Amino acid sequence: MNEPNNKAIGKPLDRVDGRLKVTGAARYAAEFPLKNMAHAVLVQSAIAKGRIQSIDTSAAQKSPGVLAVITHLNAPKLTSPQSSGGDSSGGDAQVTAANAQSGDGSAGGENPFEKPVPVLQDDKINFYGQHIGVVVAETLEQAKHAATLLRVTYREERPATVMAANLANAYKPQSLLVPLKPDTQRGDIQGGLKAADVRVDHTYTTPNEHHQPLEAHATTAVWDGQQLTLYDASQNVNGVQKTVANTLRIPPENIRVISSFVGGGFGSKYPVRGHTILAAIAAQQVKRPVKLVVTREQMFTSVGFRSHSSQRIRLGAKKDGKLTAISHEIHTQTSVFEEFIEHVGVATPMLYDTPNLLVTHRGVRLNLPTPTIMRAPGESPGMFAFESAMDELAYALKLDPIELRLRNEPERDPEKGLPWSSRSLVESFRQGAKSFGWEKRNPEPRSMRDGRYLIGMGTATATYPTNRMPSSAKVRILADGSAQVHLAATDIGTGTYTMLTQIAAEALGIPTERVRVEIGDTKMPKTPGSGGSWGAASYGSAVQSACVAVRAKILGMARLDPRSPLKGLSNVGMDIREGRIFSKRDASRGETYQELLTRNNLKVTEAEVESTPDEAAKKYSMHAFGAQFAQVQVDPDLGMVRVTRFLGTYGAGRILNPKTARSQMIGGIIMGIGMALHEETVVDERYGHFVNHNLGEYHVPVHADIPAIEAFFVEENDPHVNPLGVKGVGEIGIVGVAAAVANAVYHATGKRIRDLPITPDKLL
Ligand code: MOS
Repeated sequence: MNEPNNKAIGKPLDRVDGRLKVTGAARYAAEFPLKNMAHAVLVQSAIAKGRIQSIDTSAAQKSPGVLAVITHLNAPKLTSPQSSGGDSSGGDAQVTAANAQSGDGSAGGENPFEKPVPVLQDDKINFYGQHIGVVVAETLEQAKHAATLLRVTYREERPATVMAANLANAYKPQSLLVPLKPDTQRGDIQGGLKAADVRVDHTYTTPNEHHQPLEAHATTAVWDGQQLTLYDASQNVNGVQKTVANTLRIPPENIRVISSFVGGGFGSKYPVRGHTILAAIAAQQVKRPVKLVVTREQMFTSVGFRSHSSQRIRLGAKKDGKLTAISHEIHTQTSVFEEFIEHVGVATPMLYDTPNLLVTHRGVRLNLPTPTIMRAPGESPGMFAFESAMDELAYALKLDPIELRLRNEPERDPEKGLPWSSRSLVESFRQGAKSFGWEKRNPEPRSMRDGRYLIGMGTATATYPTNRMPSSAKVRILADGSAQVHLAATDIGTGTYTMLTQIAAEALGIPTERVRVEIGDTKMPKTPGSGGSWGAASYGSAVQSACVAVRAKILGMARLDPRSPLKGLSNVGMDIREGRIFSKRDASRGETYQELLTRNNLKVTEAEVESTPDEAAKKYSMHAFGAQFAQVQVDPDLGMVRVTRFLGTYGAGRILNPKTARSQMIGGIIMGIGMALHEETVVDERYGHFVNHNLGEYHVPVHADIPAIEAFFVEENDPHVNPLGVKGVGEIGIVGVAAAVANAVYHATGKRIRDLPITPDKLL
């Protein structure tokens, strides 16, 4: 009886929402059957730059079932990031009327994910596929048909669509999304390169890539007077609430956002996009619920993507492998009307020990949609280049690539000068190498064969920062002894429902089946969105602390209740297991939650907390680390690469649920194999459109492309990161995977491919 609680944390609990998902009972944004629903279809520009000269909507208006055709000619005036709340005088629709009473002056605030998203505000075209209208009809088919009847003429200008052709216009951004300056330097980079015995200097490129979650982005919008409800495929319900409020200039409390289940996010569902605003406007105009689903094709232009990057890396090292210089100069693209410069060099300054470092970020404005965060934003493209370059350096030094990394292991964060809260990179390489059989690798390129196939093994480092955001949560204990956990949080498929269930069960001393987690709704206590791998740390800490608070209430109640067998005991003198509160000294003395609450005529006892990160983040550098291992088989005649084995080993703090955490790693590895071998969105340079805008031509790995993948965590006890000791496992799975594959391809073939994806043409 000395166990403090039921141990629920650390168990491989099946997904608590699994049954709902496989039976179809889980409702996604486009699946709420509302009465009188109308359907909206997006109309998008067919040029990349210029002006709309005319839009003739008359045929569409007259088409059967059509309820509204909205274009820039009749759309309500919205806030734009530039006009921040100011001029609403020109507006002509109800949205403007609602603005007047809002008094919310916060539009255009600091948070880049709460900035207004103006849409249909003028005749200007900035990219191919920009929304230029929305057609609302009784049925989806009627709306689709009517959308084809719009007659649009343009004054077309020549678009800038290729980064390489526009490098002369590269600029230095003001800031990046993360706490990293666009230019970061220490020491003397030229001196460091000069002092090196061995140098490598290469440029690596990654293509435009799209997230393409299985569930398409979608919004169902319903107005009830001044109240707007949005069922939105979103990773960030509070962000949607705030952004839509800022855009439509209505008070956030008039907006409810529901995102109960999300069919994959990967970053694209974090920011608000134009279609959500259009659904809200359309529903207001037709005075009915409106459903708007972004088509797979439209997903390529409407919800962001990962920008193409070009990265020059220069490394210098002494003969023994000790790095004397790391230089990482990055170009990525953004759009002509918004800025998103991916923080590609984010991991470079902290990863290895070097006195001399330079990291620069430059942006090029193109007539393409604005890029956005995509799983492991920054690290995914950045670590492909950096970890490929480290492999090249290892060959130049004739040093084992793992050994090279070990020789540059920094005692503390070389950029911040802070100690690590914990760092298991060495341990991950040690255990991973053993498990993978790295010692069987003959270091000579093109030396290993299996029949006619060339075999290669490659490795790379993974890393991702441990983030934690302020989050609130409410926990309620009901008279039947069960518990409810309420917070706005979303589960983008990662297992949020499940791990929160485990945290609450353990903290409350009840079985997991007695916990009901309700999330994905702005009616619940406010949280950050699901992104940056901070869900477990942020939501988990809030839930844990709400449980502690409600537990203290319950114990206090028992202590003071003259009819309780626990009367007079101190809180620390009591414990709870299986829903029964008992004396630690005499376990026979006790009663259940149910008995205590029922006797006191309480239907519910609850506590709501706001949980904020402590000062530890200022004292320690906090990151998860891992080692990725790939084995490939290359057909020397056809240039076909097949990943035949993959292993990832990670130190990510305490693992709340080894089953869902491992699934996250495997998912990340698959996404990384896609990045290495398959994914690329091709731009038609003349017209600025993504040519392969469908899942037939935008290649992602299928089952046949994916080998048996192994992923495991090394034991890591981190007392500093947060009270739960978790680091987060959303993103680290993908980091370094593409480099490990590219390094394996080099080992197999002797050919270094520095331009992703590694397709057969590049190997022949
Ligand atoms: Mo995170 S960019 O939402 O995978």
